Amino acid sequence: MNLAQTGLKHGFGPLLQGKVALVTGAGSGIGRAGAMAMAREGAQVVVTDLDGAKAALVAGELIGEGHGAVSEGLDVTDDAAMRAVVDRTVETLGRLDILHSHAGYQAEGDLEQVSLEDMDRSWLINVRSHFIAARAAVGHMKARGGGSIIITSSNSGVQYDREMIAYATTKHATVAMTRQMAADYAKYNVRFNTLCPGFIDTPFNAGFEKQMGGRDGLENYIAQSIPMGRFGTTDEIANSILFLASDMSSFMTGHALVIDGGECI
Ligand SMILES: NC(=O)c1ccc[n+]([C@@H]2O[C@H](COP(=O)([O-])OP(=O)(O)OC[C@H]3O[C@@H](n4cnc5c(N)ncnc54)[C@H](O)[C@@H]3O)[C@@H](O)[C@H]2O)c1
Repeated sequence: MNLAQTGLKHGFGPLLQGKVALVTGAGSGIGRAGAMAMAREGAQVVVTDLDGAKAALVAGELIGEGHGAVSEGLDVTDDAAMRAVVDRTVETLGRLDILHSHAGYQAEGDLEQVSLEDMDRSWLINVRSHFIAARAAVGHMKARGGGSIIITSSNSGVQYDREMIAYATTKHATVAMTRQMAADYAKYNVRFNTLCPGFIDTPFNAGFEKQMGGRDGLENYIAQSIPMGRFGTTDEIANSILFLASDMSSFMTGHALVIDGGECI
């Protein structure tokens, strides 16, 4: 049996050569690391973020390294803008193979503490915006015979957090919706998986850090509650993004990939 017959794809050049990827919330943290990793593996990447200047910096860095990237300012709560960016990607780059719908929202508080505005915004960003992004992308992928849609949930999508009702509930819904889409679109070879990180050291944890009484409190919490005793890095999550984006995971759909140092064991 030769290597090609085993289905092993790595070793034949960059993993994502010739592919086009679009990432939301890619100006910082995990989204940025995933966009950079995909570009370094040969994809042309559309780097989008609410903060267009941050997206432009990421794309500029990639272009400086000789990779293919463009940037767009994009608020994932703007349905029309989301559709327009997806359509423009296909018009200008000819295809869309990978969507990483990443931007999310975290509001702290239990049932009595969380504001109704924060509960609604959690649904809007953690569920509805992924629905809109996937809906905009999936027709293009079907037409080309397949694609990979990665939706960022959290390990809070497979376990429960103390006093985080809006976040944990909507991140569970992210997993449920992605599994439903995976079941519906498997016949078109469009794969849907959720990315479920644990504590990754990015500005996203500012709210939880406040709940823990500051940086020391957060670090103590992590040292005690995460079996591996540390934060994950954005590069560790980028490796999982590469796996889900590429044919390395070609028989995987509807999966919630947890990368959390053992927190939810
Ligand atoms: N960092 C963690 O520990 C962790 C753990 C689990 C899940 N996540 C998930 O990862 C995502 C963000 O985390 P990160 O660590 O990359 O955060 P980050 O704060 O480093 O980056 C988030 C980016 O999203 C952008 N953004 C915010 N609102 C947006 C909107 N409406 N439209 C478009 N872009 C928007 C911000 O401008 C920012 O650049 C969320 O979905 C979050 O639930 C993070």
